[in-house]
Amino acid sequence: MSKAKYTITSALPYANGPLHLGHVAGVYLPSDIFVRFLRMNNHDVAFICGSDEHGAAITLRAKKEGTTPQEIVDKYDGIIRKAFDDFGISFDIFHRTSSEIHHKTAQDFFNVLDEKKQFTKETREQYYDEDFNQFLADRYITGTCPNCQHDAAYGDQCEKCGSTLSPTELINPSSTLSGKAPILKPTSHWYLPLERHEDWLRSWVKEGQLNGKEHHNPKNWRNQVVGQCMSWIDGGLKPRAMTRDLDWGVKVPVEGADGKVLYVWLDAPIGYISATKQWALENNKNWKDYWTGDRKLVHFIGKDNIVFHTIIFPILLKAHEGLILPDNVPAYEFLNLEGDKFSTSRNWAVWLHEYLEAHPNKVDELKYVLTSIAPETKDSEFTWKEFQTRINNELAAILGNFVNRAMVLTQKYYNGAVPVMGELTEFDNDIISQMEAIPGKISKLMYSYKLREAQAEAMNLARLGNKYLADTEPWKMVKDPANAARVATIMNIALQITANLSIVLKPFLPATAKILSDHLNFHVSDWEKAGSADLLTEGHPTTKTPILFEKIDDEFVENEKAKLEATKTIENSFPPQKEETSFDDFTKMDIRVGTILTAEKVKKANKLLKLSVDTGIDQRTIVSGIAQHYSPEEVIGKKVTVLMNLAPRKIRGVESQGMILMAENAEGELSFVSPEKEFEAGGEVK
Ligand code: 2FM
Ligand code: ZN
Repeated sequence: MSKAKYTITSALPYANGPLHLGHVAGVYLPSDIFVRFLRMNNHDVAFICGSDEHGAAITLRAKKEGTTPQEIVDKYDGIIRKAFDDFGISFDIFHRTSSEIHHKTAQDFFNVLDEKKQFTKETREQYYDEDFNQFLADRYITGTCPNCQHDAAYGDQCEKCGSTLSPTELINPSSTLSGKAPILKPTSHWYLPLERHEDWLRSWVKEGQLNGKEHHNPKNWRNQVVGQCMSWIDGGLKPRAMTRDLDWGVKVPVEGADGKVLYVWLDAPIGYISATKQWALENNKNWKDYWTGDRKLVHFIGKDNIVFHTIIFPILLKAHEGLILPDNVPAYEFLNLEGDKFSTSRNWAVWLHEYLEAHPNKVDELKYVLTSIAPETKDSEFTWKEFQTRINNELAAILGNFVNRAMVLTQKYYNGAVPVMGELTEFDNDIISQMEAIPGKISKLMYSYKLREAQAEAMNLARLGNKYLADTEPWKMVKDPANAARVATIMNIALQITANLSIVLKPFLPATAKILSDHLNFHVSDWEKAGSADLLTEGHPTTKTPILFEKIDDEFVENEKAKLEATKTIENSFPPQKEETSFDDFTKMDIRVGTILTAEKVKKANKLLKLSVDTGIDQRTIVSGIAQHYSPEEVIGKKVTVLMNLAPRKIRGVESQGMILMAENAEGELSFVSPEKEFEAGGEVK
């Protein structure tokens, strides 16, 4: 049987921020391990990734950093690209969706679907910001969650209760651009009628479900993936807009569609295809070979991307015709950090590029720990304490210790030359047969996407070696010359185990495996060779390995934890600082101390009080939205601050000549801003 061919993709990271360990553990590291394993097994494989540079994630970040979307994507694409490089993620290509070839590929794809009548065009009302003359993408609208009353939910999701929302469900929606309530305005978009695809989708997804009594799962899809798909399908598929009113993204390639771009979740997965095209161009290959025919397409993703890769993108691929659908979508759950969620806004994260800067020589250590705790089937947690324990008790105490003993004793007894394997005892045979079984066990786990167990199985080989040396104690036996042949056999077996380790560790710990290979003078990357007890021939020269893993002391752990605490930002519901203003603009405002003389409720307006205020230079009427915080009686006689030269406005039929300044706390309570000393009305505030 010929070897299966693979096209492996890792979710394109948004170029709106750096990567943290959660991203690494749940997408990039497992895909890299899987691909390294496939390559060692001589599968034809393409490993594809790149920056996802469109969508509101980017434009919002640009707004936050006070710069342009282009600058944002250039900056973060650079940081992400370098971090992947330094970490040794072995993509065949790391591309960008801002590239020309991507824009063209995405537009062609759209046109094919449009011509095949796979879209419907519909006009619906959408939120629009009149000040900015702009339709508001989901993330540009915030408001109160209808499910949990959280007052900062987004138009597509409430991050507090996790519910999926649509903008019109939000209570008191406001635009994040102007801060004002948006209006509804009709706009036309291309929709993908997901419901047309329900039948084939349902049976296609079901193939991934546990099947029959034997619980045989032919596709090896994770339960969580099948579960999410089924609940989407059962919940009723609906048309989904595939275009947006935005000025950042891939332009809709149709005349009269000015100001419209492709929905980022249409363009991003097509990014896998355009990246393949670019890679094929650079390497004299045909991209179609990687997207058609007998080939397994596998998407490594985080769980928040499941429906996009198991429902929407497959529909697009199917509707396009001629392209393969994913064979598997290994989705990862979330990784937490020291008892809390990773959070960019609170800067509660270990950023990959920062880790690599601080610990450039601890790459495999991080890979090992992240794979050991990978959130394959449920959320898991990274702590610096566990990082220490895994490195000290496993990498150093088991793997490092075994390899060190095998290599150092070989130097000492045989000047580095592999000694002869003599007669084998029953114990030797047992150890050898256990060793022979390990690569097969790892393979089985790998092909079922159980990478965490696969790595543990590879470590079992080091455990086996450790146990072998501990039980046979060659360092004691060597003292009696009569044992020379026995010691040689023991050391030969220990070295065969080490050579095997240099093969089976390669997908997981490539740098460590390379050190082993270099010092063993043994460079074999063929997985099929693993398991054999005669990898090294008699007399084969070896050199002593350096210490493979330094122990992590408590100070290291304390330092890292302190760094996290020191850099975290406090989360509150206060709005971020407004844009810079000039001193001149500030001095244009005339703010003074005033005294409230009279107060009464404004009829049919439960928030408003009508006040008359002594401003020192006149007495004027001001309408103030404080009725839910102060009664009229309470405010009479109060010293307040007044914005005097605000243009007069009619509020509920009453002309308001200025504004009382109020402070608001996190709970939304209001308080007057009064001079702390007994000041008379008229005093200027500056
Ligand atoms: O969730 C994310 O980070 C997205 N940028 C993933 C995109 S995956 C693909 F479709 F491109
Ligand atoms: Zn909510």
